[in-house]
Amino acid sequence: MNRVVTEKEIWENTPSFVLDKLALEENLNTLKDALQKYWPNYKIGYSYKTCAIPWLLRYLKKEKIYAEVVSPEEFYLAKRIGYEAKDIIYNGPIKTKSTIEEALSANAVINLDSQREITWVKEIVGNNPDQQFTVGLRVNFNVEEHCEGETVAGKKGNRFGFSYEKKALENAVNSLAELKNLNISGLHMHVSSKSRSNNLYSTLARKAIQIAAELNLQLSYIDIGGGFFAGGDFNSRFYDYIKNIAEELSEKYTAKNLTLIVEPGASLIASPISLYSRVIDVKDSFIERLVVTDASRCLIDPFMHKTSYQYEHVESGANSFLQSSLSGFLPNELLAGKFLESRQTKETQTICGYTCMENDRLMQLENEQEIKIGDGIIYHTVGSYTICFNPLFIKYLPSVYLKKENQFVLIREAWKVDNFLTGDISVEYEKDF
Ligand SMILES: Cc1ncc(COP(=O)(O)O)c(C=O)c1O
Repeated sequence: MNRVVTEKEIWENTPSFVLDKLALEENLNTLKDALQKYWPNYKIGYSYKTCAIPWLLRYLKKEKIYAEVVSPEEFYLAKRIGYEAKDIIYNGPIKTKSTIEEALSANAVINLDSQREITWVKEIVGNNPDQQFTVGLRVNFNVEEHCEGETVAGKKGNRFGFSYEKKALENAVNSLAELKNLNISGLHMHVSSKSRSNNLYSTLARKAIQIAAELNLQLSYIDIGGGFFAGGDFNSRFYDYIKNIAEELSEKYTAKNLTLIVEPGASLIASPISLYSRVIDVKDSFIERLVVTDASRCLIDPFMHKTSYQYEHVESGANSFLQSSLSGFLPNELLAGKFLESRQTKETQTICGYTCMENDRLMQLENEQEIKIGDGIIYHTVGSYTICFNPLFIKYLPSVYLKKENQFVLIREAWKVDNFLTGDISVEYEKDF
């Protein structure tokens, strides 16, 4: 059951993630407002893979946000959250025939990614001649030709969908055209970009229009994908993106005859989530000051490439909030306390995590106030592609709290050994050991 807790409890149970409901609401409302303003015929499909904390998924369902899923597991997760299949946007290369059948029958948005999916769709649709079906196709094209240096895949091109240049897309269209009770009603344009620029989205919208004309498709939606750089301090960028996309779409369509689908992940959930951590040891090696914390780089930097964060250093000591939560925990000299101003500046301090990996070093601080045992470090804007990648390495999954106004509510308990043992059936074979 969700439980209201004090901030003190969060500090006593670090590491913990905290999701700020107000920040999430602001991100979502801004995106909705931008769509309403520039292309009022829209669907927002939240990208489950970005962060699938169950509370969040339930909240988004209440907000009438579609579930954008990319595996049978995510498809069934959305259903467990209460989604009807028709309100699921089904993408990705790992769909199964049975989940495709379920999505197709429910008239869900389903964007096909590969030849095997075409084969399955032809079987399913062919076996149900009295029913009308729709599908979309994921487009693979040379984005770098128009947006040099902007994509994650770079010049070698991205790996999803049907190649426009190699005519795989045209072949897919021709192959599906044999089915009289199926319409190709959408194109899925998502591309992972480094730039997240307006130019990229203009290119995607323009390309979708061009392809629809060339292949004579009667589109009812264009799914522009996710990848927006917005949210938090950058919320106004939602307006730029949607305005830009709408301008391109208006060349051929109106909001009356075309639905714009967006699939935001990071832009909604990165900024509302923070990680609370505590300093458990401070020591000097022959070369550096090491600050050991109960967080880990694995929790907020699974790709091991970040070197800096938006962070807050929360001091312990007699004068600080943390003092009360630390009684009985801190060495006496710290409890005796130092006033905040008395802290020295250290030339360098390396903030480390709890794992045994040498590279579990989160960041190096230069000329910052000295950090001491018992202090807190809060990392902000760590909600996307972090919690969903958290490992079961050495420690288990941390707790997650929801912050609403000035209250905190526990929405996911930290995993314990019992959680780790879920699915274990080896005890049944004990006699065989
Ligand atoms: C198909 C698809 N849609 C949406 C997203 C969400 O992207 P972002 O979190 O950058 O908004 C992704 C991310 O990889 C994706 O692959």
